Amino acid sequence: MNPHVQPILSIENLTVRIGPQTILQNVSLEVAPRSIVSVLGSNGVGKTTLMRAISGIYPVASGRIIFDGQDITNKPSHQIVTKGLAQAPEGRQIFFGMSVLENLRLGAGKRPYREFSESLEQMLVLFPRLKERLLQKAGTMSGGEQQMLCVARALMSRPRLLLMDEPSLGLAPKVIRQIFDLTQTIRAGGTAVLLVEQNARAALRVADHAYILDSGTVSLSGPAEQMANDARVRAAYLGGHAA
Ligand SMILES: Nc1ncnc2c1ncn2[C@@H]1O[C@H](COP(=O)(O)OP(=O)(O)O)[C@@H](O)[C@H]1O
Ligand SMILES: [Mg+2]
Repeated sequence: MNPHVQPILSIENLTVRIGPQTILQNVSLEVAPRSIVSVLGSNGVGKTTLMRAISGIYPVASGRIIFDGQDITNKPSHQIVTKGLAQAPEGRQIFFGMSVLENLRLGAGKRPYREFSESLEQMLVLFPRLKERLLQKAGTMSGGEQQMLCVARALMSRPRLLLMDEPSLGLAPKVIRQIFDLTQTIRAGGTAVLLVEQNARAALRVADHAYILDSGTVSLSGPAEQMANDARVRAAYLGGHAA
């Protein structure tokens, strides 16, 4: 990363324990403003735990999380959101019984109505599928549409950093491509994206920088293009082929 640019997110030697288990150990990573950083790793390596520690949902045992120059380590999650960090969580966690519009309203939190309606307008341009389904119940939409709603809901708080936890899960390749292309549009709008994924191929295609998480520690990191051509990454995460 350019040493003159202050990272929007900086994680320093993060250790997270759940009960007797150490789930993350000495994890360090940085996200530059207006960049897409992906954290790649197989099932169970600690990707969701990392997202939850950043969002203040899981306690941090040691290390620091600095967001936009402020130490947010172990701060309550509602405070972290108001600082400009939003999460599109694993499993989407949208409200199935509520309409698309109601879900988006919840994403805007306590913002004044004018800001809500401005953000809503932007989201409906970014996600035309949601515009057509504004009054439809979220649970009746396809998996891809639900993932779009999950991302749109997170963006309603106008974050400077969006955390995305396995957006590709359970989606068809074409839909995965659409969702991942959106991360580049989001970046162009000024929001940095931290994307955790098992689907290394899809994530490396859009990312600027990538980290490999292996049993709770970072085993490798570098520019996405370099990572996609790394023999170790190819063998372990890309089925032996270059991306
Ligand atoms: N709330 C929890 N209680 C107990 N164990 C947990 C909890 N959250 C995560 N873990 C454990 O931490 C490890 C990493 O899980 P997770 O972060 O969900 O991995 P990933 O998202 O990479 O699949 C797993 O062994 C999981 O069982
Ligand atoms: Mg996970």
